[in-house]
Amino acid sequence: MPAPATAHDKADQIAVHPFENGFGCELAGLDLSQPLTQARFETWHDAFERYSVVVIRGQHFSVAQHVAFSEWFGKLEQYEDPKDQAEGFNTIIRVSNIDKYTNAIKSLDDIGHKSFTLGTSDWHTDSSFRRIPSKASLLFAREVTPEGGDTAFASTSMAWEALPEDMQQRIEHLTVVHDFEETRRRFGLPPRPPEIRAKLPPVTHPLVTNLPDGRRALLIGMHAVRVEDMEPDASRAILDELKAFATQQQFVYRHKWRVGDLVMWDNRCTMHRAMPYALERDRRLLHRTTVAGEAAA
Ligand code: OGA
Ligand code: MN
Repeated sequence: MPAPATAHDKADQIAVHPFENGFGCELAGLDLSQPLTQARFETWHDAFERYSVVVIRGQHFSVAQHVAFSEWFGKLEQYEDPKDQAEGFNTIIRVSNIDKYTNAIKSLDDIGHKSFTLGTSDWHTDSSFRRIPSKASLLFAREVTPEGGDTAFASTSMAWEALPEDMQQRIEHLTVVHDFEETRRRFGLPPRPPEIRAKLPPVTHPLVTNLPDGRRALLIGMHAVRVEDMEPDASRAILDELKAFATQQQFVYRHKWRVGDLVMWDNRCTMHRAMPYALERDRRLLHRTTVAGEAAA
C-alpha cells in the first residue's frame, strides 16, 4: 500500500531536467505563487548548487512573492534609487528599457539607462566590483522582445576545470582589480559624482575563487580591469584570453525569454551577458533580486 502523501513527496513532484552539457537545468512542477516549503526549497537549492543556472518557466507571482522566495537563499542586496525599484521594494531592481514613471521606452540619452545597458551587454558577474560579489541573481521576465534580448550564461567553473594544467598553475595565485568606474570609462560615459564613487572604490579579488563544495572558478568579466602587479598589456592579454576560453560554446547556455520565465544563476561560478535587441523599439521588462554573497572563508 502506498504511504500517505507528505510535504516531502510533494517536493518529489518537482522534476529537474539538466541541459545537455551539464550546465544549467530546468525545474518543472514548481508553482512560485505558492509559499515555498522546506522540501521544495531544498530541491531547488540542490539544483542551483549542482547546475549553476536554474530555469523555471510559466510562473505568475507578485513582486512581494519574488522577494519572499528569493530570501530563502539569503540576504538580498538593496537598490537605493527609487526609479530602479519595483513597487517600492528596494530589493528588486527593474532591468528594463521602460521608464517606470511614464511607461514609455527610455531614450538612450538617459545616462543611467545607457550605463546599465552597456554594463550588462558584455560578459560580467553581478557586483564583482563590490567587496563581496553577489551570490545569486533571480531574474523574472514580465515583458519580452519579439527578437533578440536573450541572456547568455557561461560556466567559469567548467572553464577552470578544462584549462590546461600549466595555465591553471600560472594563474591560480593572481589577484584582479574590479572597478565599475573603469567599465563606464571604457564605454566613454562620464564619471559618476565623487560621493557615489567613494562608496564603490576599486576592489581586489582572487582570479581563481573557491566554492564551499571545493569547486574552483574564474572571477573575470567586464568589471575586471587589471591583474595586480602585471604590465598593462600582459594583464589585458590574460584577461581577454581567459574570457575567450570561458565563453566557448561548450560552457555556454543561452536563454531565450518567454513571459513568466524565472532564471536564477550562481554568480560565484558563472558570467552572463544580455544579447542585443531593438532598445528603442521593443519593450523589455525584467525584475531581478540579488542574493548577497558571503565573505570568503
Ligand atoms: C542582470 C543582467 C541581463 C539581461 O540583470 O544582471 O545582466 O539579459 N541582465 O538583461
Ligand atoms: Mn548582470
